[in-house]
This record gives sequence, structure tokens and C-alpha cells, in this order.
Amino acid sequence: MSKSPKKYLVTGGAGYVGSVVAQHLLEAGHTVTVLDDLSTGFREGVPAGAEFVQGRIQDAAKWLDPSYDGVLHFAAHSQVGESVTDPEKYWINNVGGSIALLAAMRDAGVRTLVFSSTAATYGEPVSSPITEADPTAPTSPYGATKLAVDHMITGEAAAHGLAAVSLRYFNVAGAYGSCGERHSPESHLIPLVLQVALGQRESISVYGDDYPTPDGTCVRDYIHVADLAEAHLLALDGATAGEHLICNLGNGNGFSVREVIETVREVTGHPVPETAAPRRGGDPAVLVASAATARERLGWQPSRADLAGIVSDAWTFARREEPTAP
Ligand SMILES: NC(=O)c1ccc[n+]([C@@H]2O[C@H](COP(=O)([O-])OP(=O)(O)OC[C@H]3O[C@@H](n4cnc5c(N)ncnc54)[C@H](O)[C@@H]3O)[C@@H](O)[C@H]2O)c1
Repeated sequence: MSKSPKKYLVTGGAGYVGSVVAQHLLEAGHTVTVLDDLSTGFREGVPAGAEFVQGRIQDAAKWLDPSYDGVLHFAAHSQVGESVTDPEKYWINNVGGSIALLAAMRDAGVRTLVFSSTAATYGEPVSSPITEADPTAPTSPYGATKLAVDHMITGEAAAHGLAAVSLRYFNVAGAYGSCGERHSPESHLIPLVLQVALGQRESISVYGDDYPTPDGTCVRDYIHVADLAEAHLLALDGATAGEHLICNLGNGNGFSVREVIETVREVTGHPVPETAAPRRGGDPAVLVASAATARERLGWQPSRADLAGIVSDAWTFARREEPTAP
């Protein structure tokens, strides 16, 4: 039990990251209400012990009241490809919804916010590892909506004294207890490769093998979802009235697409056929975080950086989801 239990609203807490963070909040002794419209989340993903409200952040004013100590805001649409073909859906939900949420927080006097931002706010990196001082030039409407919300939060902190932290996640992976990754459609590499290992997908497409990286495939920074969750609890403690702190969250190590596929073969013992595919537009060669700000300002230290361990946890979860799996 935490020394000072608090009450938090977790938007998007039926989704992958939100459910893991909600679980960590409960384990720390806090009271949690999950607000989720189940557009991409799962009712059974909401951790036991959390109150569940099925609803939209656009209507957050109906549920938010002064008894809450803070909000952790995960609710969003987050498929990069879909955001390119249907940008309005992303602006309406991610930005429109966040405007309503911020207004509801203001009206209810709830003055602490932790927001799920993303590496996609940076776009094509100008240097590696990426720091928070680097330029933000998103290459997708998804990234643009997340950056717009970051800007809104900066304004709220300056104008109304909000204590806010945006956490810019790199590639979140792994699982925690019964909470794991199951996006639909799935677009993240590790669960996709695990689907091949499970026989649910014939092969994994490798988009481009001529990038300027050691094996020619794209390099990404994979962070275990439990390490990420710990950063959220630290951010709640570290948030300061009137300040909007922005922190990258990653391990500072990159793994290539081929290294991930090879690790899945080793962890699962299953063959994973690959298919060469052309590069996808807007895919930078290397995306690796400098998490120095999170270390210095929040005291955050990831402890699950080993790729095999991350894949192993994701594999345990994927098999739980697939009872007929070999
Ligand atoms: N997973 C990653 O690698 C990653 C990386 C960077 C940033 N993020 C951000 O982290 C957050 C969580 O991502 P995730 O992977 O858990 O996605 P997810 O789709 O599993 O979870 C999002 C949740 O928000 C809910 N939701 C969406 N719009 C809503 C609305 N208007 N009102 C109420 N609920 C709504 C969905 O039903 C879902 O449960 C997102 O904001 C995403 O942009 C994720």
C-alpha cells in the first residue's frame, strides 16, 4: 500500500498501455477509475479492482469531479496508417477529445495530468539518440495530433497552473500479468512476428533491407511496458504546478527488424518465414531515444531492457490469447 493513496482517472485503461499502468496504480494502493469507450480496448483488459466507466473522453465532464487527484490520459486512436487515410477521425478523437478532457479537468479542479505522447511527434530524426530538444516534424496525422495535444497541454500549464508530464514512448512491447498487446489490426512488430510463430500468419514482411543500418533493416528502441508503467507513477509524483515536462521513454538501445525476428525464433523455437517488401513511406531508418530527461527529472531507470525478456513476456501473453496454440 502506498503511503498516500490517491484517486486517478485513467482514460483508455481498457487498452494495452493503459491497462498495465492501471494495474501498477492499483498495486501501489491507489483508487482507479477507467474511462474507455472500448473502440479498440477490451472490457476484460480492465484490471480487477478498477472501477470501469464505458464512455468517451469527449464526455469526461460527466464523470470527472474534484475527488480525483489526477488524470492519466491514454485514450486515442493510434494506427499510423489509418491516420493517413482517415485523418479527420484522428483530429476529431485525439485532439477534440483531449480538448474536452482538459476543459473537464479545469472545471473540476483536477490539476495533475500524465499524457501518452509518442516518438512519432519527432518525425524523421535529425540526430540519434533523439532528445526532447530535437525538432518536432511529424510525418503522419497521428503524430501531428499527438504533438497538437502536447502544445495544448503546454498552454494549460502556463495559463492555468496544470501540473503536466508528457511521456513520449518509443516502441512499447512485452506484457505484464494478464495485460498485453492486442491491437486490431495489429501493426506492431513483436506481436506480428509472434503471430507468425503461432501459425496465425504465414510470414512476416520486412519493409526495406537497404537502410543505412548494420543489417539494412530499420532499427527501433523497444521498451518493456512495465518499465513504461513505472515512469507514469514517477511522473505523477514529479509533476509540478505550472510546468509541462516532456520526457522521452526508451532504453537508448536499438534493435533491427531482423534482430527482433531472430529473437522471436530463439524464444519461441518456431520458424518465422520472412518476406521482403519495399520500404514504407515515412519509416525512418533509426529511432532511438535519449531518456536522460526521464532519468534526471523523474529518477526513472528501466530494468527490463533485454530484448529476449521483452519477447518472452509478449510470447507468454500471446499464447494465453491463443488457447489452441502449439
Ligand atoms: N503502444 C505503443 O507502442 C505506443 C507508442 C507511443 C504512444 N502510444 C500512445 O499510448 C496510448 C495507448 O496506446 P495503446 O497501444 O495502449 O493503444 P490501445 O488502442 O490499446 O488503447 C487506447 C484505448 O483508448 C480507448 N479510446 C480511444 N478513443 C477513446 C475515446 N474517445 N474515449 C474513451 N476511450 C477511447 C480505446 O478503446 C483503447 O482502449 C495511445 O495514446 C497511443 O497513442 C502507444
